[in-house]
Amino acid sequence: MARVKKRAAAMAAADVMWVMLLMEMMGLSGSFRFGVGVDGVRMDYYLMSCPFAEQIVMNTVTSALQSDPTLAAGLLRMHFHDCFIQGCDGSVLIDSTKDNTAEKDSPANLSLRGYQVIDDAKEQIEEQCPGVVSCADILAMAARDAVFLAGGPRYEIPKGRKDGSRSRIEDTINLPAPTFNASELIRIFGQHGFSAKEMVALSGAHTLGVARCSSFKQRLRNSDPTLDSGFAQTLSKTCSAGDTAEQPFDATRNAFDNAYYNALVKRAGVLTSDQTLFASAQTRGTVSGYAMNQAMFFFDFQQAMLKMSLLDVKEGSTGEVRLNCRKIN
Ligand code: HEM
Repeated sequence: MARVKKRAAAMAAADVMWVMLLMEMMGLSGSFRFGVGVDGVRMDYYLMSCPFAEQIVMNTVTSALQSDPTLAAGLLRMHFHDCFIQGCDGSVLIDSTKDNTAEKDSPANLSLRGYQVIDDAKEQIEEQCPGVVSCADILAMAARDAVFLAGGPRYEIPKGRKDGSRSRIEDTINLPAPTFNASELIRIFGQHGFSAKEMVALSGAHTLGVARCSSFKQRLRNSDPTLDSGFAQTLSKTCSAGDTAEQPFDATRNAFDNAYYNALVKRAGVLTSDQTLFASAQTRGTVSGYAMNQAMFFFDFQQAMLKMSLLDVKEGSTGEVRLNCRKIN
């Protein structure tokens, strides 16, 4: 885990510079605004009210990844599933109650991981600045830090998302299914304002983590022509251990790199929704480009992630700052 340590140290120095720069900007212009509205999201949202929030999240994610590097994937996926349902409002973090089955208990979310990391960061932040930093912001920062600590790009995100109060299992029907083809993926991401190219860049998140057999076994039954025959055998072998057996998306499951796209070019994508990106003429060019040029993938990924992190954000009084990320106040 030398990479996680080295990256965290570089960040600590960079953050001091960043805060100083922001203060300078405050002095010059009052504040550096990103969004609109009095309570809109801003890069410096917590500068005065909770200046160490970003550092606490970074430290918490760093130590979590040191003991379990696979959590980077968990945090990144959790942020995506948060943003696509009800916007980035921490709705995925809410626990079910006797009157309500929450998003996290949907079949699409049962393998989400990393809730404890968010709880840890929240607890430390509440000690320093009670009732100020939203769970949605903590999750967005944690996902961003996970990408960086796993070797990916580092990018700044505005803060000031408020937490939502609705989390319902039925809403998760709007998450993309692993059986989707390129046209279906383009359509569902298009509904959230993403281009086909941005959808391919976001799918690059599958450079981290694993899928369970239940998410791809239908490809083996129907002998998928887009699947390399040798890799089909690998998938079958994985599935021989049962529905919950895990298959890494690429050869470097804990490293954020462009190996995922190279796997797609070799017809060794794990999910139908992965391999379709190379099989379809609509998206093949982008996949080949990212397979050849990791810097281009990193650049496009960070832009698309920033955009995703601002999906349907609740600002001002349209949401709350939850005191416990697992339940509404
Ligand atoms: C393009 C449409 C997408 C589909 C259909 C999809 C579907 C899936 C599925 C089925 C899994 C495996 C779940 C399991 O078997 O337990 C998975 C894992 C994952 N997804 Fe996606 N996903 C998509 C896009 C994204 C995006 C946009 C992100 C983040 C920006 C993301 C991040 C991840 C990560 C990191 C994992 C690994 C999780 C882990 O190892 O714990 N996915 N996805």
